[in-house]
Amino acid sequence: MRILVTGGAGFLGSHLCDRLIEQGHDVLCLDNYFTGAKKNVEQLIGNPKFELIRHDVTEPILLEVDRIYNLACPASPVHYQYNPVKTIKTSVLGAVNMLGLAKRVKARILQASTSEVYGDPNIHPQVEEYWGNVNPIGIRSCYDEGKRTAETLFMDYHRQNKVDIRIVRIFNTYGPRMNPNDGRVVSNFIVQALRNENITVYGDGLQTRSFCFESDLIEAILRTMEQTERCEPINIGNPTEFTILELAEKVISLTGSKSKIIREPLPSDDPKQRKPDISKAQKILGWQPKVHLEEGLKRTIEYFRSCV
Ligand SMILES: NC(=O)c1ccc[n+]([C@@H]2O[C@H](COP(=O)([O-])OP(=O)(O)OC[C@H]3O[C@@H](n4cnc5c(N)ncnc54)[C@H](O)[C@@H]3O)[C@@H](O)[C@H]2O)c1
Repeated sequence: MRILVTGGAGFLGSHLCDRLIEQGHDVLCLDNYFTGAKKNVEQLIGNPKFELIRHDVTEPILLEVDRIYNLACPASPVHYQYNPVKTIKTSVLGAVNMLGLAKRVKARILQASTSEVYGDPNIHPQVEEYWGNVNPIGIRSCYDEGKRTAETLFMDYHRQNKVDIRIVRIFNTYGPRMNPNDGRVVSNFIVQALRNENITVYGDGLQTRSFCFESDLIEAILRTMEQTERCEPINIGNPTEFTILELAEKVISLTGSKSKIIREPLPSDDPKQRKPDISKAQKILGWQPKVHLEEGLKRTIEYFRSCV
């Protein structure tokens, strides 16, 4: 198949391109390099089945493809808050443009949505039927509401125009090729530990997160695209919970760092708990995460050692 991956030069997009090439597909990787980099796909450059397109998803584009994975969007607070108007345009206009393309060329299209659509959840763990508790006017809203609107657009194009859609709600994912400067908790802690700097924990550190390794996540995305049972959102993530403090301690021990843990005030709208209910993914995709946090952290630390 000819497959378009928007945001293909980013952390997750580049791993997805690797897997699709391995499967023998022709891959068009589209990116504006806002947070992604050519370096993430350098191993694919020169492969006759791989093509790189510099393009911004807020502008329309016409391409002949069979599948579209729509991943383009800055994903970490530092980057999505840098230019919030652009962030929401990327989610909303990006969705409109990619759905328009899917409709025109009759491609199946998958949206990379997020657990942020649940906001600061009132139910735990989060099931797909939960509508969320999102602040529409806060500093995270450009991302959360942009992604929520994108989901609405996907469902409306499906109901109104019969576009063949898939939606995955991705929970915290980590691994090699994360941007070292994006302020996400796993990359932050690893970079601070490798530099023997203080590790910053926000609040009391007892807020929990669940962390999914990239290879598990990519497998679930590929399976979601190819299944025909469900077009509504499917949660993908690792339900095993760790406190932020536990994560900091694990990173210190695995890196052998001399870093100390220090505390800073909790940023506004930071959710206290986030954990996916993955029963739909388990049932529909026959999937569940395999890589344990310790193993995934080791692989991620190895990558960061080469670039920090
Ligand atoms: N990594 C996670 O934990 C996580 C969690 C939930 C959702 N997601 C979603 O998965 C997708 C990929 O995230 P990631 O972690 O790989 O982040 P990333 O920042 O590494 O990748 C996003 C990519 O999109 C590109 N991009 C941004 N704006 C664009 C635009 N206007 N036009 C074209 N390209 C553009 C960036 O340059 C980058 O390569 C995002 O949509 C994100 O919201 C990720």
